Amino acid sequence: MKNILITGGAGFIGSHLVKLFVKKYTNYRIINLDKLTYAGNLQNLKSVENLSNYVFIKGDICDKVLVEKIFKDYSIDSVIHLAAESHVDRSITNPFDFAQTNVMGTLTLLNQAKISWAIDGFKDKLFYHISTDEVYGSLGKTGYFLEDTPYDPKSPYSASKASSDHFVRAYGNTFNLPTIITNCSNNYGPNQFPEKLIPLFINNIMNNKPLPIYGKGLNIRDWLYVKDHAIAIDLVFHKGKLNETYNIGGFNEWTNIDLIKVICATMDKKLNRKTGTSEKLITFVKDRAGHDMRYAIDSTKLFEELGWKPSLQFEEGIEKTIDWYFNNKDWMDNIVNGDYQDYYDKQYNIK
Ligand code: NAD
Ligand code: TYD
Repeated sequence: MKNILITGGAGFIGSHLVKLFVKKYTNYRIINLDKLTYAGNLQNLKSVENLSNYVFIKGDICDKVLVEKIFKDYSIDSVIHLAAESHVDRSITNPFDFAQTNVMGTLTLLNQAKISWAIDGFKDKLFYHISTDEVYGSLGKTGYFLEDTPYDPKSPYSASKASSDHFVRAYGNTFNLPTIITNCSNNYGPNQFPEKLIPLFINNIMNNKPLPIYGKGLNIRDWLYVKDHAIAIDLVFHKGKLNETYNIGGFNEWTNIDLIKVICATMDKKLNRKTGTSEKLITFVKDRAGHDMRYAIDSTKLFEELGWKPSLQFEEGIEKTIDWYFNNKDWMDNIVNGDYQDYYDKQYNIK
């Protein structure tokens, strides 16, 4: 049996990955270490919580004593590291949390992996670090991020992720720790916390609340359906080359304003509202400080080496996503009835 430590498995992407691995690989034991911050939600994992090859541990990746105990108690062979503070806006108001979890937490895991695995010469071991395209900075109208694009992070979030990527490579180079890093574009889909653009806007449309678009809405993101990301991680985990980096992206660029118009039109149909009703909720607000203009990933390497490409067209993915939020109102209600709605409403002066 392989013992895989997945960190951040109660979050958005982590929960899709945990569900995929627990169900697909019954010969693996999946140990999910998650602090359950505001973004972690055990409701995401209901379908696997009682399965015998799944273990949940509530805890902090920065807790050296706990991390050491987990490596010993469960004879961890591999780490897939997703735990992070992940929202750019929060990184602007609270950068220290990002340095702590994203940098110090990653370092804590790397160092324990080095200590535990050096004993048998790192045989069959892997530290797989999940990162973001945001480490490459911001693009102009043309061009794509490639694996060798120089790092140029521009927000406290991306700076903390870039720093963690550097530590991962440094541990590979200095201590021979077997590592892989993937840098993925913006994900969307079920179970995403409603502070991120797509679930936030779906929820606000359902509740007739304003849709705050930063600046002129012309910033561009490359969107990937979360389950396609999980499939890519599965492939890279099993077939990726050690000490390599792979970019993962959707080849699916949208300006925020065009994306929102698609969501508004789809929601109008689903809610039997007159065409144009949801678009009236669009409100242009002050731009995000240092707002990156454009992200676009070239994932040709992953396609050519491992045969991965996104399986869903965006129109299909967004439809599935909206349907999920419609069919899981209790999931959203549990979040927005907690402290989060207060936090959000205060930010935008919503009464
Ligand atoms: P998320 O915010 O939804 O989930 C993060 C999870 O990590 C939560 O369950 C949270 O409780 C947990 N966590 C936070 N701090 C922790 C700590 N100190 N110790 C243990 N657990 C902790 O994030 P996500 O969107 O699922 O992103 C997962 C990973 O993928 C992150 O590393 C992120 O940088 C990366 N990523 C995200 C995207 C995206 O579009 N969401 C794109 C590319 C890469
Ligand atoms: P977000 O989902 O926060 O992801 P990221 O900043 O990591 O790309 O935001 C996606 C885009 O949407 C980004 O250009 C910022 C913009 N945005 C808004 O215009 N309004 C909002 O309320 C939010 C949350 C984001």
